[in-house]
Amino acid sequence: MGYILASPLRRLYQNPETIVFPYCKPGMRVLEIGPGMGFFSLPMAEKIGSSGKIYCVDVQEKMLRTLRRKVLQRKLDYRVELRRCSEASLEVHDLNGTIDFALAFAVVHEVPDPDFLLDEIAVSLRPGGILLIAEPRGHVDETGFAELIRRAETHGFRNTASPDIRGSHAALLKH
Ligand SMILES: C[S@@+](CC[C@H](N)C(=O)[O-])C[C@H]1O[C@@H](n2cnc3c(N)ncnc32)[C@H](O)[C@@H]1O
Repeated sequence: MGYILASPLRRLYQNPETIVFPYCKPGMRVLEIGPGMGFFSLPMAEKIGSSGKIYCVDVQEKMLRTLRRKVLQRKLDYRVELRRCSEASLEVHDLNGTIDFALAFAVVHEVPDPDFLLDEIAVSLRPGGILLIAEPRGHVDETGFAELIRRAETHGFRNTASPDIRGSHAALLKH
């Protein structure tokens, strides 16, 4: 699955430049939950430039290992920090209130209790920080996604837009 998600062909269907570049500016601090093999992480790392920082947090060591190799190949290791988290916590308490933009793409449906995830992301964001959540339509129906956004609102998020992302439900949430 990871290899399909990292395939260059995916760009024809879901282009990171149109999906995440509008929210990534040079110098920004980004938190990516469940980066997988880095389909979004690497373009975001390029976009935030040498003064930016991206924290990529995943439960699977295998994903992080592949991503680490790609990050090193591109000499981006000083601006990309890879972290292994647990099923129960993202373990990003040291980032509280410092993140400008968070991305959770095709990951929330894999988490048994999204409330802790939404809470930890909310705490990591600076006031006015943004979270883009996208969930695959094949895994999450309209009602399930609406329920997720309602839960996000109980964690202090405000739904500001529904970006058009192929094959996905998506919401742009402001904290
Ligand atoms: C379907 S993949 C999506 C990868 C990437 N976001 C993309 O769109 O290419 C889901 C990723 O979320 C990770 N994941 C699952 N549960 C997680 C959790 N509780 N915390 C962090 N990452 C998690 C998986 O290990 C996997 O790398």
